[in-house]
Amino acid sequence: MNGLDDRIYIEGGHQLKGSIRIQGSKNAALPMMAASLLHRGVSVLKGCPRIADVFCMEEILQNLGAVTWWENQDLYMDCENADKWSVPFLFTGKMRSSVILLGALLARNGKGSLGYPGGCVIGKRPIDLHLLVLRKLGAVITEEAGLLMAECPRLQGTVVSFPKRSVGATQQGILGAVLAEGKTVLENCAREPEIQWLCRYLRSMGAKIEGDGTDRICIYGVERLKAGSMQVPPDRIVAGTYICAAAITRSQITLENPPEGELEAFLEVYRKMGGQYKGNSGKLLVNGEHVQKPVELLETAVYPGFPTDLQSPVMAVLATVKGRSCIRENVFEDRYKAAQQLVKMGADIRVQGKEAVIHGGKEFHGAIVTAWELRGGAALILGALCAKGVTVLEGYSYVQRGYEHICQDLNTLGAAVKRMQE
Ligand code: UD1
Repeated sequence: MNGLDDRIYIEGGHQLKGSIRIQGSKNAALPMMAASLLHRGVSVLKGCPRIADVFCMEEILQNLGAVTWWENQDLYMDCENADKWSVPFLFTGKMRSSVILLGALLARNGKGSLGYPGGCVIGKRPIDLHLLVLRKLGAVITEEAGLLMAECPRLQGTVVSFPKRSVGATQQGILGAVLAEGKTVLENCAREPEIQWLCRYLRSMGAKIEGDGTDRICIYGVERLKAGSMQVPPDRIVAGTYICAAAITRSQITLENPPEGELEAFLEVYRKMGGQYKGNSGKLLVNGEHVQKPVELLETAVYPGFPTDLQSPVMAVLATVKGRSCIRENVFEDRYKAAQQLVKMGADIRVQGKEAVIHGGKEFHGAIVTAWELRGGAALILGALCAKGVTVLEGYSYVQRGYEHICQDLNTLGAAVKRMQE
């Protein structure tokens, strides 16, 4: 991509007002796309977000032999002839979550291979737990020259206790187990809503799964699955980001289709900052006018704890409220890339190891800043909304991996975000 195309320009200082719809969830859609491989026919995801990561997964499915097409916001995937079993590094290097395809490829073809996954630069992001669960299900996995090769004519039900909670590894286990022979019990599973969405989708295809949403999931393997069809739920992280946009500009906005009950830990922190909200006929009225209090300690954790994906957006907001706040990032070891860039805008944030100490209340001013990853990039856009003058954000393509139309949404609410400098 041409460097200039990868920039946006944000003129700060505009109050936000009005109403927006929340896009479909990236982290729900991607595993559902992988699950679609498990039916030899046409499945559909309604309200699927048109974002870079979804396009990347779509291209992978096409590369495996699937035919895909869009009808407005609905993504159709015909996996009847998706019989290739190898995903080249070209794709997996772009998007780490593509590793969950390994379980689906094994379940469908008895073998699968993947270039070693890449993705956001937010720490080591190992895949040992993914390999652990597939090996327990009977796969023989070898790694040679950056290529993972997994084989097993039919996966076998088993009991796996994860040594650590992982969203992706839990999904991997589920995708491997739904067509395995016999019963699989997964213990110490992650409980993120996206796991439940994947299980709902798989159940719509005929899978037998119990216990999703708890840390113990039971899967009774079936012989085959039928076509899947489901509405992708609203994206809880995008919703949280827009609530932060209201908070950082001290504005009132309405979310037309907020995620239900998935934002509790985030809303608790938002309330501590002085933020207000109210549900009204399925909508969420958000009032950020009174956001003014620091947060003594905000720790990220697995669900239902505070989501690591909203850590940087909230850090941007905390940098604008008077007083000392502290964040402790417990999920990823290198997720403070946005801090340094917010400092360029005038924030006072000091990062040491897992912790970021924020002395808030400083005035933000426009600057040239760079996004190094998706949610950090969104945090910089938030910072720019309340900065004096124009901010140039480089690396906008990272933000496009997860936000379908953040510029348009913010402009609808009264912000001034442009793709071109005028
Ligand atoms: C998913 C989300 C991501 C979110 C994260 C945590 C998707 C596509 N992405 O990522 O947006 O930030 O959950 O909520 O859904 N780990 C291991 N070994 C493994 C796998 C993970 O040690 O095999 C570690 C990771 O390095 C990390 C922690 O476990 O420290 C949690 O990662 P995990 O829950 O797996 O996150 P993802 O599924 O990659």
